[in-house]
Amino acid sequence: MTWLITGGAGYIGAHVARAMLDAGEGAVVYDDLSTGIAERVPRDVPLEVGSTLDGERLARVIRGHGVTGVVHLAAKKQVGESVEQPLRYYRENVEGLRTLLGAVTDAGVPSFVFSSSAAVYGMPDVVLVTEDTPCAPMSPYGETKLAGEWLVRATGRATGLSTASLRYFNVAGAAAPALADTGVFNLVPMVFEKLTEGSAPRVFGADYPTPDGTCVRDYIHVVDLAEAHVATARRLREAPGTDLTLNIGRGEGVSVREMIDRITAHTGHTLSPVVVDRRPGDPARVVASADRAATELGWKARHGVDEMIASAWEGWKHHHPAR
Ligand code: WQD
Repeated sequence: MTWLITGGAGYIGAHVARAMLDAGEGAVVYDDLSTGIAERVPRDVPLEVGSTLDGERLARVIRGHGVTGVVHLAAKKQVGESVEQPLRYYRENVEGLRTLLGAVTDAGVPSFVFSSSAAVYGMPDVVLVTEDTPCAPMSPYGETKLAGEWLVRATGRATGLSTASLRYFNVAGAAAPALADTGVFNLVPMVFEKLTEGSAPRVFGADYPTPDGTCVRDYIHVVDLAEAHVATARRLREAPGTDLTLNIGRGEGVSVREMIDRITAHTGHTLSPVVVDRRPGDPARVVASADRAATELGWKARHGVDEMIASAWEGWKHHHPAR
């Protein structure tokens, strides 16, 4: 099989491309390189530079490479930016997906894996979020992911396309330093940035109704997440007519304070965190039930938080060499 991996020059997409190769699957990356980095794409994988808004180019790439399945990760992913630029987020994330699905169904490609997010749940009021927990996204970003799931499912029902939406929880870590995330928008890199600047990491609120007062999240190693894509892709191939929605997390909550403690312990920095105001829109606790992915895919995360931190730190040092 040849899998078209859109967004395959991005942080998560490049890990998916690598996992596909390691699993003996064929892969082609399609990326507009707006945030992707060409060097992240494995050497043996062709890179086609293009936008998901360009249906004609997508059709040519799908035909030219004999694509037999798609893993669609290309999207904008910053929550705050989506509040300021909703039109851009709907265009890139929903119109881009609609255009891609048009090319996919015209070409008769049978399988489609969609990159969704725990952001579809918004502020869930449950200990473990299952796939049946009501969705109530809190940002245009989360809305575009939920609308994307609907569009993917409706297309599957109408055309027989086998589909899966994977709801990623909090992704961290790297398979190799060069593949690490270069953005500083999430807890782990934001703490690294503060520590390397010599300033105290910030805790956005310590008065949440959680055991230590800080927000609890479900962190998942990007290597495990990439393997979940391979397992999903194979499942779709083996069971045509499939329609899956799966949480991809570990089912284990870790608080912000605990994460920062583990990061400072690993990096040898001794700066204590400072508590600052809450960041608007942050839910107190979002932790996956990972049961359905285990049942449906036989997949389970294998890496813990310390491996995420250690590999992310190597990646941070690679991308931010000391001056
Ligand atoms: C985690 C916790 C912060 C930085 C977001 C998106 C989600 C997904 C992943 C997708 C929160 C706290 C952070 C800091 C802190 N995006 N924090 N000090 O908000 O759970 O999820 O990223 O593609 O859709 O919403 O992740 O890493 O930003 O924050 O205290 O310096 O760390 O308040 O509680 P979040 P995050």
